[in-house]
Amino acid sequence: MNSKITSSLLFKTTFILLIVGCTSVSFAKKGMWMPPNLGLKESDLKKMGLKIPASKLYNDNQTGINQAVVIFDKGCTGEVISSNGLILTNHHCGYSAVQKISSATKDYFANGFWAKNQQEEIPCPGLSVTFVRKMVNVTDLILYEIYPAMKNEERDSIVDARIRGLEKGYRFATHLDAQIKSFFNGNEYWVTVSETYTDVRLVGFPQNGIGSFGGDTDNWMWPRHTGDFSLFRVYANGANKPATYAKNNRAYKTNNFLTINAKGIKEGDFTMVYGFPGTTQSYISSYQLAQIQNIIDPIRIQARTLRLEAMTKNMSADRAVFLKYTAKRASIANGWKKWQGELKGLQQNHVLDKKREQETRFMTWLNLHLMDSSVSGKASEILQSMDAICNAANSSIKTEEYIKEAVLSIELIQQGQLLEKIRKAVNTLKGHALKDTLASLKASYLAFEKDFDPATDAAVFNALMPLYFKNCNGKIATEFTNQYQQYRADFGRWSTGIYARSLLSNKTEFLAYLDSDKPALETIINDPALKLYNAISEYRTKKINPILNTYNQSMRYWNRLYTYNTLLMGDRTDFAPDANFTQRLTYGVVKGIDPESEAGYSFQTFLDEAILKDNPNVEEFKVPEKLKALQAKKDFGKWGENKRMPIAFIASNHTSGGNSGSPVLNAYGELIGTNFDRVWEGTMSDLYYDANICRNITLDVRYTLFIIEKMGNASWLFKEMKIKK
Ligand code: ARG
Ligand code: GLU
Repeated sequence: MNSKITSSLLFKTTFILLIVGCTSVSFAKKGMWMPPNLGLKESDLKKMGLKIPASKLYNDNQTGINQAVVIFDKGCTGEVISSNGLILTNHHCGYSAVQKISSATKDYFANGFWAKNQQEEIPCPGLSVTFVRKMVNVTDLILYEIYPAMKNEERDSIVDARIRGLEKGYRFATHLDAQIKSFFNGNEYWVTVSETYTDVRLVGFPQNGIGSFGGDTDNWMWPRHTGDFSLFRVYANGANKPATYAKNNRAYKTNNFLTINAKGIKEGDFTMVYGFPGTTQSYISSYQLAQIQNIIDPIRIQARTLRLEAMTKNMSADRAVFLKYTAKRASIANGWKKWQGELKGLQQNHVLDKKREQETRFMTWLNLHLMDSSVSGKASEILQSMDAICNAANSSIKTEEYIKEAVLSIELIQQGQLLEKIRKAVNTLKGHALKDTLASLKASYLAFEKDFDPATDAAVFNALMPLYFKNCNGKIATEFTNQYQQYRADFGRWSTGIYARSLLSNKTEFLAYLDSDKPALETIINDPALKLYNAISEYRTKKINPILNTYNQSMRYWNRLYTYNTLLMGDRTDFAPDANFTQRLTYGVVKGIDPESEAGYSFQTFLDEAILKDNPNVEEFKVPEKLKALQAKKDFGKWGENKRMPIAFIASNHTSGGNSGSPVLNAYGELIGTNFDRVWEGTMSDLYYDANICRNITLDVRYTLFIIEKMGNASWLFKEMKIKK
């Protein structure tokens, strides 16, 4: 062989080894792993500190820890901590269920709630808990004879039909629910077989001064002093199977519950977080990352700043408004704050540059491997295609984000969809059919109305509508411009006018309308909220959706190919799929951040520090008197450490939204805490995880036990738990 060629080959090989080496090292630390694949990670897990076999973490003979990790209320995680179906999750995960059963006389946010026995546990309509019974990789059955570069149109119908068929087969064979989801952007498929229980009752809920301590000010921040937990119980029928609520249902029985370890933790300890992370995009290209960084996140932050200001003003002035809006506000503020952290992290860590470097490496790798049979067709077109497609859609993405965050965040306009349903009913139905439909729409209206304050929503309108007009110049739906002109181009007049006129903001009239024998079509057609809702829907259908649909379809295609080829660059077992709200396990160690910095962050927080933040004039920082007294007497029961009461700790686990309420486990799979947040510096981890910066925040289980005993006087619950002390 010619020496020139040899040396250039050698150079190339070394270069590739370097790239591949880098990828696998960085990938090894991050990742949300599929529980059935943990066997493949066993040696790494053991090296990091795991002391039990990986088969204890997941198995499908009903003896694995996976059986104790549940989906709580459709968007959070919970864990089973007793043989009587006792569930531990976050305070903020139980928050909206508790809001539904709260009232001025039963203000559980101000006073907390603690059942003294099972009879006192409160049913929570609409709340559910889902157990995952089994997960199976079904990629071969779904992607059989489907080649990577196949067009969406050819591939989708085949894949969809196979998914539906296989789900049906699993349901038939197991008598349980079955759902197949796509992983690695359509390059892998797994089925989850599950069972959902709907009789779930509230057992314990600390008052907000503990459970939401620090509120939105401290949210996404470290150090943190929030007792973010609540307790529920799953009820079942006589056969221990799911059943709708009935007084005589009994507590769900199981052998799969977590042992609690209250012996404490130290820096460097191995930890695992087991739960249901919702969405991450670690395989995202620089083009889509740029959209998030330059278009989407800034609009969300801008609109929500205004919306939150308007809501908060009314909530502080009136407790009734607070009770209506507290859950809504918390979720709006949660995203608002997270995206600010994300944006900052992306900018400060030059993530876009890093993504671009990664793409350059991808192209270099590809040029060397284009002839490999594993590399997909069209691979060399991936990046330039994504670039062009993103450019073509950016302006519509911007408008759409304003429509979602500004226009449709005004509840009166968003609820226009209810008016539209009523219009359809009144227009097309008669007699009993009409009466029944209106009765069910009335129920939806009342559920919405319970937490609706027209004056607060009008304030939101006054803040958001000008934002839409200013930023979407030339892209305003005509009905909006017409109404605006009709009110003499004055947003205040406009809102006063429509909130006075719309049925949605006039409860008595609305109910009378729904109850009347002959509801007039005219009334509903002329409702200004219906007009605005229909106008914005039509605008989206005609002007935005066609562009966004094409964009989404094309990007789905290229992202699938991009991920497919990226996976060829390293060892497949080193790649974890992005989060998609399926059960995952991540692992890391207890570790502070940047102890050298000015803030001197340590890995742990304590109750005495919480009390330093006490401020009776600020709702978020009011420490309950009794808690202060307990600290003053250092009365921590068995749960303190060196005369201090630990609250929370941080670790390097790669978590995301949905991991709230997740059990945090030690090397033996015992419960040492409940995950509830990430640190501000690292919220970019949904897009780019860096083990040096990203930390998950865990509520120490000792604080949970202390609050149950000393604040809730509910140590009757300890009898059913297994606690190591
Ligand atoms: N940031 C946490 C999560 O993403 C906690 C949210 C609840 N707390 C709040 N202040 N809104 O869910
Ligand atoms: N609080 C988040 C949740 O609701 C978990 C924190 C995170 O996003 O990492 O799931």
